[in-house]
Amino acid sequence: MSILYNEKNQTFHLFNDTISYIMTVLPNGQMGQLYFGKKIHPREDYSYLLELNPRSMASCVLDGERPLSLEHVKQEYGVYGSSDYRFPATEILQENGSRISDFRYQDHRITPGKPKLSGLPATYTEAEDEAETLTLILKDPVNEIELELCYTIFSQGGILARSVRFSNRGTSTVHLLKAMSLCMDLPDCDYDWIQFSGAWARERHPKMRHLEQGIQAISSMRGHSSHEHNPFLILKRPSADEFQGEVLGFSLIYSGNFLAQAEVDTHDTTRVLLGINPEWFDWKLQPGETFQTPEAVMVYTDRGLNHMSQTFHRLYQKRLARGVWRDRERPILINNWEATYFDFTEEKILKLAKTATEAGIELFVLDDGWFGKRLSDRSGLGDWKANPDRLPQGINGLAEKIEDLGMKFGLWFEPEMTNEDSDLYRQHPDWILSVPGRAKSQGRHQYVLDFSRSDVVDAIFQMMREILKDGHVSYVKWDMNRSITECLSAGLPADRQGEVFHRYILGVYGLYERLTTAFPNVLFESCASGGARFDPGLLYYAPQGWTSDDTDAIERLKIQYGTSYCYPISSMGSHVSASPNHQVGRSTPLSTRANVAFFGTFGYELDLNRLSSDELEEIKEQVKFMKSWRGLIQFGTFYRLQSPFTGESASWMTVSSDRSQALVGWYRILNTANPPYTRLKLTGLDPDRLYTVREGKRILGDFYGDELMNVGLITSQKVKDTNVGFDFESKIYILQ
Ligand code: DGJ
Repeated sequence: MSILYNEKNQTFHLFNDTISYIMTVLPNGQMGQLYFGKKIHPREDYSYLLELNPRSMASCVLDGERPLSLEHVKQEYGVYGSSDYRFPATEILQENGSRISDFRYQDHRITPGKPKLSGLPATYTEAEDEAETLTLILKDPVNEIELELCYTIFSQGGILARSVRFSNRGTSTVHLLKAMSLCMDLPDCDYDWIQFSGAWARERHPKMRHLEQGIQAISSMRGHSSHEHNPFLILKRPSADEFQGEVLGFSLIYSGNFLAQAEVDTHDTTRVLLGINPEWFDWKLQPGETFQTPEAVMVYTDRGLNHMSQTFHRLYQKRLARGVWRDRERPILINNWEATYFDFTEEKILKLAKTATEAGIELFVLDDGWFGKRLSDRSGLGDWKANPDRLPQGINGLAEKIEDLGMKFGLWFEPEMTNEDSDLYRQHPDWILSVPGRAKSQGRHQYVLDFSRSDVVDAIFQMMREILKDGHVSYVKWDMNRSITECLSAGLPADRQGEVFHRYILGVYGLYERLTTAFPNVLFESCASGGARFDPGLLYYAPQGWTSDDTDAIERLKIQYGTSYCYPISSMGSHVSASPNHQVGRSTPLSTRANVAFFGTFGYELDLNRLSSDELEEIKEQVKFMKSWRGLIQFGTFYRLQSPFTGESASWMTVSSDRSQALVGWYRILNTANPPYTRLKLTGLDPDRLYTVREGKRILGDFYGDELMNVGLITSQKVKDTNVGFDFESKIYILQ
């Protein structure tokens, strides 16, 4: 890995074994983008890549020694208004009403490692030789705003992390109306765009379309990254697939309103923008102040979608997630939500915990309903004290009883919310986001606390600390069950209200930081009515997240498959729930429910006391299985093999780092009569190694890796001595 600066040509070349990223100072002093892709040889002069000639008579040109039109020039951080008509990376409203900026190269720094982003989650290094960082310092001579464009190249993998810092070095106040984390001008538009979209209980389904001239974009304006769209985008060559071909991944380490956009111009260049959503963003930057954007991560590979995902998985698992749980196998848990909802007593909880501990489950998670007057979703949020009617000896009393059973204890919170019917709201009605004199929208009967205010965040921290301080809570599920509306803060003046959405997220990050620092051994799981905030921002604080409120195994195939494009298996909360399923009413075999949930953090979310003794025996076996394989599942190399979006079967596999072991999950959706023969080509194995393949206790035979990868694994063997399979059947193949 290296960052080379050629002083004569004012050209920068960042490269490692996989990628090259090249930029240069343009004749007008702005920064131009020359190349991003597979590693190429360093050379003295890349000026042949500069295509500066105006493309049409209609182009406007900047005055200067050499007339220059920015209309089609590939830039590093494009601005609108002086001959470039594309959507800009930044927009700065100045005192005289002008929004035009002109950032010219001043200087640069090359430093080993990677600097921290203050107050924001970001990737990090543990040793200086893991990465190198280039900071370009640009300045607008008129508005005196200084830009620091920060680029970190990691030594391993095709990864480049980018962020931008604005400093007001002048004497007048400006308003940042747009401050994207990444602007990437690509020389052509022959890409398929893949976004990850959906809705509550249907999150992160991949949707693909070919790039076309004009704008294509996804965004959130809900105050969280959202169920609807994930802050992640793929551009792939049309011929690229899971196993080969050029793929670019763009991921934003942020949990609030975002925008991911690609603009294809008239000459088929593509500008990708990624960052905080400029809608409703207006940050007042006074003289001497700075503004730091979130970090965006770009991944390039020419080895297909699986390889791009594996690059993100490794980075996000090892150099974004933090804390003692980062590298640990995750505890198998039971969560009482779908077992009891709000209808529980301590006795009922203990009965469930007793059966769970007998099955070998390691952690009991008490979900919503343990605090205040929280008998339904209409009251109690914000009153973070145990309800004595339900838990006579409080949280410590219950936790001790659970610990006596041999399990750890975990607890649900929804720190950012309050109900109208709560002591917190009665005492502090001004603590919510709302507009005086206007109606206050409720979502799930609750209001959003104003986390842009440090006094509000502090009060919630104190309440949570009271519960956590005695050390009985070893896991926290942090939920967030509604989007933001009426986004106005009583803590800020009128000309700073455009800052509230971002300050809110900074408040969330601040509270996470304080809690994870004060309680470093607690495992945090993020949640936002399922997966509305399943994003890299929260992965920095919580190494796992509740993937979706949809616990149906067949639906989960799609959700977990889609989620795996960016996020590691160790981050996906996945539980076995009741059949018929509570979200879709579908009945599925217990084995299939587990076979899907194994590919995640794994747990149960159903009333074990309603199961038959045979089912409980089966659960004991599942728990035993997960305990012996979770190291491989959660930390191995994951491959998607067959998409649940395109056919009636789906499959994926995970391979150990030394390729001596692998697990394959194969799932049938709907069965057909008289089915065809099927073979599943595996991948990632050692071609020369002989693997013994088992399905449960049944040994299927010994096969070389090259056989399994080229001939394939025969998946159409007889099931229970007949050739007739069944709907929702599944198998786990063990290769050793
Ligand atoms: C939404 C979460 O996603 C569920 O798992 C559960 O915790 C409920 N909230 C509780 O209100």
